[in-house]
Amino acid sequence: MFRYIVGWLFLAVSVVAQAAVPVCKSFSQQGREVTFHLDNGAAFQLKLCGQSVVRIWYSPDGKLQRLNSSFAVINEELEDVGVVNVNEEASCYEIFTPVLRIRVNKSPLKLQVFDKYQKLIFSDYGDGRTCEGEKKVEYKMLRRDEHFFGLGEKTGKLDRRGETYKMWNSDRPCYGVADDPLYKSIPFFMSNYRYGIFLDNTYKTEFKFGTESRDYYSFEAPGGEMIYYFMFGKDYKEIMGHYIGLTGKPIMPPKWALGFAQCRGMLTREDLTREIATGYRKRGIPCDIIYQDIGWTQNLQDFEWRKGNYENPKQMLADLKSQGFKVVVSQDPVISQSNKKQWQEADSLGYFVTDSTTGKTYDMPWPWGGNCGVVDFTKPEVADWWGAYQQKPINDGISGFWTDMGEPAWSNEEDVDRLVMKHHLGMHSEIHNVYGLTWDKVVKEQFEKRNPNRRVFQMTRAAYAGLQRYTFGWTGDSGNCDDVTQGWAQMANQIPVLLSAGLGLIPFTTTDISGYCGDIKDYSAMAELYTRWVQMGAFNPLSRIHHEGNNAVEPWLFGEEAEQNVKKAIELKYSLIPYIYTYAREAHDAGLPIMRPMFLEYPYDVETFDTDAQFMFGKELLIAPVVKKNAKTKNLYLPEGNWLNYNDKRTLYSGEQWLTVDAPLSCIPMFVKQGSIIPTMPVMNYIGEHPEYPVIFEVFPAVEGQSASFLLYEDEGTDLGYLKDEFLKTPINVKTTVEGFEIAISSREGSNYQLPSKRNMIFRFYVEKSPQKVVIAGKKQKKVKPEKLHDQENIFADAVIWSYDKEMQILNVLVPDSGEALEMSIIQ
Ligand code: NOJ
Repeated sequence: MFRYIVGWLFLAVSVVAQAAVPVCKSFSQQGREVTFHLDNGAAFQLKLCGQSVVRIWYSPDGKLQRLNSSFAVINEELEDVGVVNVNEEASCYEIFTPVLRIRVNKSPLKLQVFDKYQKLIFSDYGDGRTCEGEKKVEYKMLRRDEHFFGLGEKTGKLDRRGETYKMWNSDRPCYGVADDPLYKSIPFFMSNYRYGIFLDNTYKTEFKFGTESRDYYSFEAPGGEMIYYFMFGKDYKEIMGHYIGLTGKPIMPPKWALGFAQCRGMLTREDLTREIATGYRKRGIPCDIIYQDIGWTQNLQDFEWRKGNYENPKQMLADLKSQGFKVVVSQDPVISQSNKKQWQEADSLGYFVTDSTTGKTYDMPWPWGGNCGVVDFTKPEVADWWGAYQQKPINDGISGFWTDMGEPAWSNEEDVDRLVMKHHLGMHSEIHNVYGLTWDKVVKEQFEKRNPNRRVFQMTRAAYAGLQRYTFGWTGDSGNCDDVTQGWAQMANQIPVLLSAGLGLIPFTTTDISGYCGDIKDYSAMAELYTRWVQMGAFNPLSRIHHEGNNAVEPWLFGEEAEQNVKKAIELKYSLIPYIYTYAREAHDAGLPIMRPMFLEYPYDVETFDTDAQFMFGKELLIAPVVKKNAKTKNLYLPEGNWLNYNDKRTLYSGEQWLTVDAPLSCIPMFVKQGSIIPTMPVMNYIGEHPEYPVIFEVFPAVEGQSASFLLYEDEGTDLGYLKDEFLKTPINVKTTVEGFEIAISSREGSNYQLPSKRNMIFRFYVEKSPQKVVIAGKKQKKVKPEKLHDQENIFADAVIWSYDKEMQILNVLVPDSGEALEMSIIQ
């Protein structure tokens, strides 16, 4: 009995001792790194990556050592921070930057960050943190009005408050609207208290946004180091800017990748591929890419064309190219055991992930091709070996890869026996979430090495933070498999999933348009959902139609009405390519996705926290797709400013209100902000079909005395020149005056890229009456009939002409684009 009491006392004392909050005894400093030494032997380190970005590291053993350097962070010194002074006060240490006051309380240890107005932004809660064995938890103060956004591609509402999320890349066939985790792990989130946190830990981390208490939220890691970055910004855009400063800029896709793409699970045959390609061109429905799913390859993963399915793949690719199609093929990160030659080759070279219990190649079950060896992309030698294989279809003429199943698939949370997998860089518990990322890196780097000066196209399912440096994304297997026609909720939830992906720095991504799961038995019953899905997907940065198995999902299969409506939605996307491409550049420069949550543009409008069924498409356009069955109206929110219905280009609504608009099946509710210019182009069968085309600037003038402007971005579209300043920017400004409008084209910026040919610019206004005149330097310009101007569009003009279509109430001003500055007035 006595023994038990002593034992119990000892346990109680040690629990208290362990739980006792550490006290800061001293600090040491090395430049921008300040380490606080705690009385329990732990170290607490702050590194000033910039004036508003701090790396925070709690190291219980005081060693401040990590097994692997970061997979995500490539730059920790974002700017010069000058001399970092640590002020010691009686109860705390303080570090000041021009924007932050960072306070480290000594006893107990407590971190607090204030802005320069002394407003508390971020704070440890209670004891701040706990460590039990390898598990480390951080507790942070939660305000009643605090909201969280981010964590990349996750289901559920955009506002993460009140939910718990895990990071463990998972193959989730037919996922529902609340399934978690999905395929990617992006442990980066932002708070409306103007800060972001990136927890740089690749283990199965967990985030609890107020699920345990109304007073705190927490994030935790079951292993590895507790390293996270605090990023302060005036708004979400600035915080995202810090995040790409740390993790790298998104690569730009080739321009053609912004067009439409067609796929299906069994699209693995030459005859079917040709038939679909012809189907598109015959019907004049624009399309740029045809995918081949994994069955294209003879064996996992020898990159050979499946015999019997492809008669002459090279010829097929050449023919498709001449029709304006690019072909993208799938690859899986495994070698099938039945593919003896390649399996033995990889096994003998030690290129597979091993089983730590046997030391042999890990035996991985795979949904097709039998059991496999999992290629270990963390081993440097693997890169060239894989690169040589993947180059084979590139040499045949394919244009990109679809990197699928990189969780690696079938290694979900419940498959705990997979934790015995040993990779070159570590055990599976650490590597699992970065497995896909290490593969994407190899695919991209090998592509660029073997195909110099070509942009990679790679679309990936599983990845970790930092993927934007290597790849683009898609959101995997959504859709309703019980009854495909009931996939409305899944489709609706794809909007917040895609928006959150964008916030997690996957600016180029797509849903599987039509919903991946569920057999389509009755095409007319599916027509409405299919139409609405295409309408939403047209505004995904990438737009791919895809469905499982042999379920055909080409636009002409769902009846005449669906075909017309779908064609219209696809054409709308193609007309917006100059606008979209300008925003693709912004995604590269600033990390901002074109498909963006409302609060990214309107961060102070809390109403936008509840707008999961609509989004901004750039700064100028607001898209509110219909995501409800039988709905012929749409309820949506317009933020501040005035908005025009983009469908009629004229009806004006004032902002800061919810409203219900008509939305027949042919219509995608869409608004343009008053005071905007939208560059468009004539619809083509595929991007680049006609190298000579006019850029049509649709002008939605600002109120009197104010201007609308746009900076059009252009480059070669497929090479890496954009990384070396080989691009052009054309500044356009239209001021609304008492008399009418003043158009100012400034001289073109950038000289390292030439437009492929001379072209015209057309300024299009939707005005009720014809102007009296259009003048340049006091000289009247020639008015012509609308048909005449239309005929002139593609022929490089030698002078400005203009026309007014009375019936359509459209004014067009055609200007030969010389690249020089030009000012003209429209007098009404
Ligand atoms: C899983 C992917 O998510 C899906 O899109 C694809 O069709 C199948 N793998 C087959 O490759």
